[in-house]
Amino acid sequence: MALGRRQKERSQTPGRSLFQPLVFLCLLLPLAAGFTLKACQISRNVAKCGKHKLTSVPRDVPSTVTGWELFENKISKIQLSDFRDFPMLTQLELNRNMIEQIEASTFSRLTSLKMLNLNQNRLVKLEEHVFSGLVNLTELRIRQNRIKVVANNTFQTLSSLTILDISRNNLHTMAKVHTIIKQLPHLRELYLGSNDFTRFYSWELTNTSLDIQRLDLSLNPMAVFHLTSNVLPNLTFFNMTNSGWTQQMKLDVQNPTFFHQVSILDISGIHVSVDDLKTLLQTVNASLTSLRMNKMKSHLSSLINASCTIPTLTQLLLQRNQLSHIGSDFVSICSNITDVDFSHNNIKDIHDDAFRSLQRLTILNLSYNKLPSVPAAIRTLPWLKKLYLSTNGISRVERQDFANQSMLEELGLSKNSISSLRGAVFEDLVRLQVLKLTDNHMVHLDGVFEVHLPNLKQLLLQGNELSSLQTGGFGGLPSLQSLKLHDNKLNSLQKGCFKGLTNLTELLLQNNQITERDLNNGCFNDLTNLRRLDLRNNHIYYKDTTALARPPFSQLSLLRLLYILSQHHHGKSGLPRNFLQGLTNLELFDARNIQLVFLHENTFNFTPQLQELDLSSNDLDDLSPDLFSPLRNLRTLYTSRISLGSLQYLTDAKLHKLEFLQARKNQFSVIDEDVVRSLPALVYLDLQGNTFTCDCTNAWFINWVRTNNQTQVFDAYNFGCNFPTASKGSKLLDLDVQSCTVDVDYILFVSTTSLVLLLMVTSFTYHFLKAHLVYAYFLFLALVFDKKHRNKQSPCQFDAFVSYNSHDEAWVVGEMLPRLEGDQGWKLCLHHRDFQPGKAIIENITDAIYGSRKTICVISRRYLRSGWCSREIQLASFRLFHEQKDVLILVFLEDIPSSELSPHYITRKLLKKQTYLSWPRAAEHPQRFWQKLGQALGPRENDHLSVQVLEDQ
Ligand SMILES: *[C@@H]1O[C@H](CO)[C@@H](O)[C@H](O)[C@H]1NC(C)=O
Ligand SMILES: *[C@@H]1O[C@H](CO)[C@@H](O)[C@H](O)[C@H]1NC(C)=O
Ligand SMILES: *[C@@H]1O[C@H](CO)[C@@H](O)[C@H](O)[C@H]1NC(C)=O
Ligand SMILES: *[C@@H]1O[C@H](CO)[C@@H](O)[C@H](O)[C@H]1NC(C)=O
Ligand SMILES: *[C@@H]1O[C@H](CO)[C@@H](O)[C@H](O)[C@H]1NC(C)=O
Repeated sequence: MALGRRQKERSQTPGRSLFQPLVFLCLLLPLAAGFTLKACQISRNVAKCGKHKLTSVPRDVPSTVTGWELFENKISKIQLSDFRDFPMLTQLELNRNMIEQIEASTFSRLTSLKMLNLNQNRLVKLEEHVFSGLVNLTELRIRQNRIKVVANNTFQTLSSLTILDISRNNLHTMAKVHTIIKQLPHLRELYLGSNDFTRFYSWELTNTSLDIQRLDLSLNPMAVFHLTSNVLPNLTFFNMTNSGWTQQMKLDVQNPTFFHQVSILDISGIHVSVDDLKTLLQTVNASLTSLRMNKMKSHLSSLINASCTIPTLTQLLLQRNQLSHIGSDFVSICSNITDVDFSHNNIKDIHDDAFRSLQRLTILNLSYNKLPSVPAAIRTLPWLKKLYLSTNGISRVERQDFANQSMLEELGLSKNSISSLRGAVFEDLVRLQVLKLTDNHMVHLDGVFEVHLPNLKQLLLQGNELSSLQTGGFGGLPSLQSLKLHDNKLNSLQKGCFKGLTNLTELLLQNNQITERDLNNGCFNDLTNLRRLDLRNNHIYYKDTTALARPPFSQLSLLRLLYILSQHHHGKSGLPRNFLQGLTNLELFDARNIQLVFLHENTFNFTPQLQELDLSSNDLDDLSPDLFSPLRNLRTLYTSRISLGSLQYLTDAKLHKLEFLQARKNQFSVIDEDVVRSLPALVYLDLQGNTFTCDCTNAWFINWVRTNNQTQVFDAYNFGCNFPTASKGSKLLDLDVQSCTVDVDYILFVSTTSLVLLLMVTSFTYHFLKAHLVYAYFLFLALVFDKKHRNKQSPCQFDAFVSYNSHDEAWVVGEMLPRLEGDQGWKLCLHHRDFQPGKAIIENITDAIYGSRKTICVISRRYLRSGWCSREIQLASFRLFHEQKDVLILVFLEDIPSSELSPHYITRKLLKKQTYLSWPRAAEHPQRFWQKLGQALGPRENDHLSVQVLEDQ
């Protein structure tokens, strides 16, 4: 251990020391706003503060954001000061809070705001000036509040508004709607559902025509609907849904041309007379394309027949009508329909001829019914392109079920009870592109996909009970791009099982029982086009990092994404060092939670294009810096929960493109400057769940978190302290780091005093002694820094002042005093012996330090804990600082690890460049210890010291 190091480090010019306080003052005043926010994150210029239990709008969001998410908090009031300067904000989401009150003009500075979402709050009244200033707002959502009262001019400034959703409030009368919409010349979409309206009279709404295109009046207990003038000439979408209301509505649309543009009509659950409805349907006779009649109470088939006379109608939605049977005449005249939805009924059987008239049908949805088999009725539909039969009771599928379906492109058979399929069952589906067979009970594939299906692109087989894949089992699928086999029981992939899948880009095999032996047989070698391979949660396990004779992915040079993470526990495992061989274009590797204990440093030599790497939840307590060196393109790195003690492995890896680093729940306590400096592109750092040392060792990090403008440190304001013990429970960023700069208190004191004195002296001098101004200034400096002590007590009375804790007095008096004073003849100053009684203690200390050539600090744990002693070190180090003399000698009575020293910043700092001796280490040669201490006390006369380098061992 080197003693008395580098004079150079101490050779600061006295001039600079005077300058420093001024610089300090200047730096402290404008508190720079950093990029790390207390409750929010910034992502793509959107402040994300949703779901944070906030009770007020955060104040630290930068004024440059364009979006602001504040949904799902507990904000009850918003006020003028909440949204002062956000000239770029276009989207503001305040939905799902408890807002009862909005102060007038709160949004008035948000001139760019386009969308304001206040859904699901507790507003009762909309005051006159709530929306003032929102001149560019186009979309306002205030659904699901308790709005009863709307002031006359509330919407006046919303001249750009096109969408207003005020459904699920308590407006009650159309007159209030009238007050609102007459202020909104550009309104196109108006949602008024669930407002307890009982009457709709067009004259009550307005007397001039409106340009509203979408009107939703759903779920109002409407008794009368009266349209006597053409107030809605441009309406294209009309929702009159009304389930749960039993009173019959009087529907009166006086002129059949009033709805001549409506193309989408929802009359689900409506309760009107059949005649009224037929009249309504007449008014949309030339425009309607989509009609929804879900949950109808009665007359369904006569309404279907009435609607089918509309020549333009193409889509008919008939969900949740409790149909159990479809007879031969049910939709007999709907000859122009292309899309019928019968889902969510109880249909058990369908007459073979039920769909015979639907000669143009291309989409048929029969999902969520109780069909026991594929209905024969579909055989009469030769143009069918999409057939949905999922969630029924189908257990068998035969080839003749799909005879004639040569146009079919998509077939949904998921969530049935199919346990096996036979050979050529899909052979006639020559145009089939998407086949969904998920969540059935299939155990074998029985060669179904060896049969040629030339156009099949997506095959979904997840959630079955498949246990093995046979050689050539997908040989008939030359166009297949996506194969999903996850959540099966696959425990054997036979050699060549993916043969023929030359166009496959996506293969999902997660949650099976595939082992490393299945990877060894070269089964992936046929998939030369594969981009994404998911092998998560299988039983792949390697003992160590020994290289494999046949690396499993060596032919997959186009693979971009590889996932192998696992939740199964095998105990400790390794990754063969050439596991990734051949993956020259791999961009993402996810190896989370695979019980890795070691990674060979060459593991990533094969993957120079890697951009995202996840190694979280492994037991890699040590990572070689060379491991990451090949990853020059790495942008995202996850190393959470891998028992790391520091981020030091990153400093040498030169990850110059790394933007995102997540390292949660490790054992970091101190984040060093060089780690952060080695990641110049870092914009997001997540260190949640580490336990930090809350003292000056983290001063740089704390300052950087608070002030840097590039990197967001996620959740930094919640980082907790673990050390020193006294700070447990407090937050890292609450630490006051200003005191960490050496002697800053003292320097500030001196600088303030000198500034005041300087001012007085200057004005005095200027007045009387203009000519001697400069001289006087220097005189003053000398006064402050030198004369005070040096003149008073020179020459030195003592060779050394000994600073120690009274608990260590036994050692000082019993060991040190006899050796240094007795044997070596030095003159020491001890406080119990040499201090002048009656003098202030601080004065005594100052005099002792300046009256001695040296100061010996006897350091023990107790010494460090006592405030006086550190004051002594500070004073001595100040003398050291301005006198340019090596006056301080540190003697350690105990071995104190540097982690324990860390709260004693100054001591630790001095240790780096100052003479120090350790008593415990000298135990074997006490003689040498005293000899060295004597040397450190230096020449008796003329103490202008040069460098002392003494060896401690
Ligand atoms: C707001 O709208 C006005 C026109 O009403 C337009 O001139 C101005 O550029 C818009 N401001 C922003 C920030 O979009
Ligand atoms: C609001 O308008 C209604 C009629 O349009 C009027 O009777 C009422 O006096 C107005 N209220 C205020 C406060 O201006
Ligand atoms: C309806 O739309 C047409 C064409 O966009 C437009 O010219 C007309 O002004 C609109 N009607 C109303 C009442 O705004
Ligand atoms: C009509 O309104 C009901 C209830 O608000 C809603 O569930 C339904 O989706 C709407 N219909 C359409 C076509 O949007
Ligand atoms: C079907 O549509 C054609 C025009 O495409 C029309 O001429 C015919 O009347 C429609 N048939 C029915 C029953 O509406």
